[in-house]
Amino acid sequence: MSPLHGKHIVLGICGGIAAYKSVSLLRLLVKAGAEVQVVITPAGKEFITPVTLSALSQKPVVSEFFTANTGEWHSHVDLGLWADCMVIAPATASSIGKMAHGIADNMLITTYLSAKSPVFLAPAMDLDMMAHPSTQANLKLLKSYGNHIIEPEVGYLASGLIGKGRMEEPEKIVEALEKFFVRSQDMKGRKVLITAGPTYEKIDPVRFIGNYSSGKMGYALADECASRGAEVTVVSGPVSIIPGNPDVAVVSVESAREMLAECEQRFPDTDVAIMCAAVADYAPAEVADAKIKREHQDVPVIRLVKNPDIARTLGQVKKAGQTLVGFALETDHEIENATEKLARKNLDMIVLNSMRDKGAGFGTDTNKIAIITPDGCRADFPLKSKADVAKDIVDKILSLKN
Ligand code: PMT
Repeated sequence: MSPLHGKHIVLGICGGIAAYKSVSLLRLLVKAGAEVQVVITPAGKEFITPVTLSALSQKPVVSEFFTANTGEWHSHVDLGLWADCMVIAPATASSIGKMAHGIADNMLITTYLSAKSPVFLAPAMDLDMMAHPSTQANLKLLKSYGNHIIEPEVGYLASGLIGKGRMEEPEKIVEALEKFFVRSQDMKGRKVLITAGPTYEKIDPVRFIGNYSSGKMGYALADECASRGAEVTVVSGPVSIIPGNPDVAVVSVESAREMLAECEQRFPDTDVAIMCAAVADYAPAEVADAKIKREHQDVPVIRLVKNPDIARTLGQVKKAGQTLVGFALETDHEIENATEKLARKNLDMIVLNSMRDKGAGFGTDTNKIAIITPDGCRADFPLKSKADVAKDIVDKILSLKN
């Protein structure tokens, strides 16, 4: 049975030549067992008739805020709540712009703004419109709001030109939706513990030793695991971000020792632990009670002691059935160092990111990783958003046999 069986899907259709493909998409969704409500923009109706769409969906097509002759009001709020998913195909440059900027001048955009469900967009337009910086900026904005963009193909366009802008084929759109719904449940029942952010090691009441970790990678992992049904706790060092997913529990700590204590307490009841925090390896041996004053002292010498290794501590008590994932942030001899950490910390896999790769590591919205497993296998991934990197990591965790 298709994962779309019984799902409520709002199919949004905008005014573009590719609207003819929406008929096939609608047929495929209905065939997969989904209940589909079509919402079409006024321009969409110039390309395809509501009669065809309502016959196939077996529901009246919604286009206006109310039916003129009866005065019946169509509630975009109800539709937004009813939907398990909204797919806008084709999504034109104009509607993409309106969605990105909240210009709610038709039923489709108001439904989008009211939707509580995941939203997928399949853009379709001429290659120059697609490549235009404003379209790209709007798509980037929509993606940053958590919408899913189903990239258009390169191919023959209605203008006669060949380029990127052809709406993805309906079969592929259905495949993307099915994959999404499978993924939305594949971590269900699992308890996930994630460390994220830096640790701060106090020198005195106003100073600390820390690092540049923003928490973005760890929080992206937390959001991804939660969106796939896991029960997620993040033990987080000091960061200025919050999880996108309200179901993620955050336990805030400051130092490595505090992080260790929270992790040790939770680990026995954890199925998957992902050590993404940039834990300070050293802490000052003594913490001054008062601010160390510049005027009254020689240049202070701060003696350091080793911090506990949280990943290694958990690796020593790991039981069969538990999965322990580490990260390696390297600047040189990347593969050798990561492989050594994988073994020393008794990890089930290690995610390597290198400060030598542009766009990877601390603070960025992107990362470039390699995943290494104890059997010596290595998978290299291109530069991606941290949200997409998190997907790859979770896919890999689920593929591990232990
Ligand atoms: O937070 P962002 O700005 O998004 O940046 C993400 C990141 C670069 C911090 C992240 O992708 C990353 O690489 N995290 C691990 C950083 C790190 O400390 O790497 P490491 O090679 O020093 O440590 C190896 C592993 O041991 C890591 O899983 C680390 O969490 C763990 N560790 C390290 C030291 C320690 N005392 N305790 C630990 O648990």
